[in-house]
Amino acid sequence: MPLAATGELVARTAQAGTTDARPPHPRTAVAAFNVITLEHIEAVIAGAESAGAPVVLQVSENAVKFRHGRLLPLARAATAAAERASVPVALHLDHVQSDGLLRQAPGAGFSSVMYDASHLPYEENLAATRAAADWAHAQGLWIEAELGEIGGKNGEPPRDAHAPGARTDPMEARGFVADSGVDALAVAIGSSHAMTTRTAALDHDLLKRLSASLGVPLVLHGSSGVPDEELRAAVRGGIAKVNIGTALNLAMTGAIREFLTASPEAVDSRKYLGVGREAMARTVERLIGVLRG
Ligand code: G3H
Ligand code: ZN
Repeated sequence: MPLAATGELVARTAQAGTTDARPPHPRTAVAAFNVITLEHIEAVIAGAESAGAPVVLQVSENAVKFRHGRLLPLARAATAAAERASVPVALHLDHVQSDGLLRQAPGAGFSSVMYDASHLPYEENLAATRAAADWAHAQGLWIEAELGEIGGKNGEPPRDAHAPGARTDPMEARGFVADSGVDALAVAIGSSHAMTTRTAALDHDLLKRLSASLGVPLVLHGSSGVPDEELRAAVRGGIAKVNIGTALNLAMTGAIREFLTASPEAVDSRKYLGVGREAMARTVERLIGVLRG
């Protein structure tokens, strides 16, 4: 099927969680997985097909840098794979800071972007995000932004997600969403990027207040470090899109390491890439199941 639109997947999911939806569905969230290689793309789609759920393939600015600054090879591979999928698959450009990259999104098949100016002081974040949102909307793109400090980006050590000022303030967020015009907000509620242990503790009271005061879908980043029960509670509390990256790399690398340790004579890259891809697909299917409660 043709590429789906992230905004529609998120809206449909959010609607399924309302009490007046017919028939009633338990609340869930759209799973959005970061992809780096063709194996990631194939694994995410295979896992989503096994789970029978729509999914978002995310390409981060860092992944584009890894691909020598070229967006199209990964974007075209993702598009071709998505078009053959039996579940809806959308393409999302993630953690974009470069305006040059942002401007490539519509031509490369992306229906949505996450514009990340959260490292800037509030007024500068707002001004940059508003300009990005104006441009994105004129192109028909759905845009997500970030307010607060979700740490652990770009190889920095995970920040103390509980440090004063690190979390998203509900009143500030309300003004930020209204003034920037973004379609969704990534919120800092206790998760941190690139965690290899699932030990993050989320601030569910803050999530409740954010969910009550903002009229847009909320996005959880750094979800690899969030335990299953915390993920379920976050979805119940109003998270509509769950971003997952490191969990796939843990699965892939662990499976490949195990395979190569057991078979040191192996040479054919298909053998170990295959076990890595299979391990990622199982992780995708399992995590989508967790988001269903
Ligand atoms: O935007 C991407 C996600 O926030 C991924 O975070 O690698 O810690 O799961 P993660
Ligand atoms: Zn993120």
